[in-house]
Amino acid sequence: MTKVAIVARAALLALTASVIVYFRSGLLQTVPAVGSKIGGVRANIDVASGILRRMSPDLALRIDALSPELVQLGSLLFQDARLSRSSSISCASCHQPSVAFSDSRKQSIGEKGPVTRNAPVVFNRGLAPRLFWDGRASSLKEQARGPLLCVKEMGFSESSYLARVVTDGDRDLRSFLGASPVLERICAALAEFQISLVSVSSAFDQHEWDGASISDKVQEGARLFRGKAGCSQCHTGWNFSDEKYHDIGLITDDLGLAGMTGVEHDRRRFKTPTLRNISRTAPYMHDGSFATIREVLDHYNAGGARAVGRSILVRPLDLTLDELDAMEAFLGSLEGPVVCVARQ
Ligand code: HEC
Ligand code: HEC
Repeated sequence: MTKVAIVARAALLALTASVIVYFRSGLLQTVPAVGSKIGGVRANIDVASGILRRMSPDLALRIDALSPELVQLGSLLFQDARLSRSSSISCASCHQPSVAFSDSRKQSIGEKGPVTRNAPVVFNRGLAPRLFWDGRASSLKEQARGPLLCVKEMGFSESSYLARVVTDGDRDLRSFLGASPVLERICAALAEFQISLVSVSSAFDQHEWDGASISDKVQEGARLFRGKAGCSQCHTGWNFSDEKYHDIGLITDDLGLAGMTGVEHDRRRFKTPTLRNISRTAPYMHDGSFATIREVLDHYNAGGARAVGRSILVRPLDLTLDELDAMEAFLGSLEGPVVCVARQ
């Protein structure tokens, strides 16, 4: 049995315990929206819960409606490598809690080697209108079928998975999954768990929402971000994304949104990603083509590497070195813990 499977089994035994701990390492923490205290992580939890209710009341409501049992099952399935053909790849292989649920590779590695795109983060996605860089899934439940069924990523087979669960003696998990349709049940639990993943308490959030102090340099960076540099035209709102698709002037063969719509105008348009925890999720862009934040800033400062088809919102910016430093400091201040907000 693999190490991940052991962790999953050990965690399953805790199904009825009052304190839920999903991941043993990384920055993931658990948050009871209502209920008992969880030791040392309580301070972060309170900050996150308090800010979330003011920042996105809709998401807070959605989280209040989560089923704690499904969240718990989803957290186990998320790190269960038995879901993949070779029992070596789980969702958490490419969405690692230690790097804000992305991975540190240009292209993630699946069952058959590298996949074509860079792994995005999977927190603050509870109300996302569409998922994937080209928006081809309309819900987290639908999205989960993608990696599970893709032979290059996980190559899931219902019969092999159930056989492994039975061989490993996971009777609780087997009965939780019920009879068919097992895939439906797995996707629903994975979605429920991912809705519970939230990151809203960065240094910058604490400054904006709770009046905590922050350096002048970060404040200057924030001013530039919203002003001269024009970043907030797309990286807007509490999660720094308009959830729309743009061509930012990258050189790429990837069709982007056009691959889904078939519309020429959508070529090379990709979904605006959040900038939260950006300091932990290098390399950047749908193809991982930039290794550092400074490379990204240089790209925008030059107005992109390619002008034809590029969004009119991306243009040369004339930012000075000091201004670029300030923007980098601001982007760094968007780092904060990812917490699991689940009722108990
Ligand atoms: C082999 C690596 C790999 C595995 C395994 C994997 N993912 Fe992903 N994930 C990716 C990549 C790469 C993308 C972006 C693909 C694209 O947009 O075309 C992605 C996209 C996503 C998104 C969309 C996020 C957004 O905001 O658009 C979610 C949600 C997600 N994965 C969840 C999961 C879940 C749940 C599992 C397990 C069932 C999983 N992933 C397994 C690499 C992986
Ligand atoms: C026209 C809308 C738009 C504007 C303006 C814009 N961005 Fe982006 N940003 C995007 C899109 C779309 C992507 C993803 C592009 C891709 O992967 O091909 C992106 C990607 C990024 C990434 C990489 C994120 C990741 O997870 O890989 C960073 C960092 C970033 N932008 C920062 C900025 C900064 C800083 C500015 C201002 C100088 C800015 N953006 C202006 C739309 C925009």
